Amino acid sequence: MEEGKTMADEEEVVVEVEQQQQQPCPPLSKNAQKKLLKQQRYEVKKAEKKALLKEQKKREGERKRKEWEEKLASATEEEKQQLIESRKCLRKERMDQRSDEKGKKMQRLTNAKENGQNVVIDLEFDHLMSSSELHSLVQQIMYCYAVNGRCSSPAHLWLTGCQGEMQAQLQRLPGFDKWVVEKENRPYIEAFQDQKERLVYLTADSETTLDVLDPKHIYIIGGLVDRNRWKGLTMKKAEDQGIQTAKLPIGTYLKMSSSQVLTVNQVVEILLKYLETGDWKTSFFAVIPQRKRCEGDNDIEQDEDTEGKDDHEKKIRDIELEEEKDDQESKRQCIES
Ligand SMILES: C[S@@+](CC[C@H](N)C(=O)[O-])C[C@H]1O[C@@H](n2cnc3c(N)ncnc32)[C@H](O)[C@@H]1O
Repeated sequence: MEEGKTMADEEEVVVEVEQQQQQPCPPLSKNAQKKLLKQQRYEVKKAEKKALLKEQKKREGERKRKEWEEKLASATEEEKQQLIESRKCLRKERMDQRSDEKGKKMQRLTNAKENGQNVVIDLEFDHLMSSSELHSLVQQIMYCYAVNGRCSSPAHLWLTGCQGEMQAQLQRLPGFDKWVVEKENRPYIEAFQDQKERLVYLTADSETTLDVLDPKHIYIIGGLVDRNRWKGLTMKKAEDQGIQTAKLPIGTYLKMSSSQVLTVNQVVEILLKYLETGDWKTSFFAVIPQRKRCEGDNDIEQDEDTEGKDDHEKKIRDIELEEEKDDQESKRQCIES
């Protein structure tokens, strides 16, 4: 049992978690209603922004097509052939470059399978999330995979306990079947049953502070988007399973304006940055948005559900665009071959 904690404390957490799981939702407080309204407004704005971007993209495509057609119309037959030929070359160059980058990325990820730091995303919590939270988690996982692929020394990612709706949503992601990650239906505790002593559950509620990343250890991150509704859940799970726990050493390097509970993608990114730099401070400052830290002018109280949303949305859009491009290019390659 954790130092300083009595059996009664432990039981209280257990009872609290069980009650959270069983009780029907109580009526919302004024604060919660405000939060909900803010969230709903945010969703509306987000949908409008998405539609606007789609429209802009469509118009830009049309403008480019028109420009190209005009260029061709005013050209002589010989110039036309040249224009078409140079456009083909440019496309091929771009495609070769992309496929070269992709090949290198695949190689890095395959090497990580052998020598990389093992990082598990524990996906056994899908029943505790709403569908929009589940969707958000899937987006975060997609983001983690993309960031990992760009790292010079990536980690080896595991998705464990991957079943049901979670699995269905992941499988809908473009290219998911080709991802170089370990897709494991079993819970991590079964998948790593012979290596239990190497498992370390990362949780903000741990008394132990992570000092360095040990390559022999397998770090687990709770696959949860819960706005910290399920307080202490991963800590309790790890304790019940008798595995080690640790929290990130955030407090040693910076002051947070609110809780130290980070999102899944932030934790993965911090670990990746640490693997690259060996420096926690650099890693925290690179990943934790300024508004969540205490030393900026934008020192606003924010929590997990609103923090850095615009940045996050933008990052996700970038990845979606990248995936879309990859998709279009492989279609083009199929057509041209
Ligand atoms: C959004 S949090 C989920 C919080 C959840 N209530 C819980 O009990 O863990 C997602 C996951 O990121 C990891 N995490 C978040 N902040 C952390 C911190 N400060 N130190 C270590 N791990 C952290 C944990 O694995 C956590 O389960």
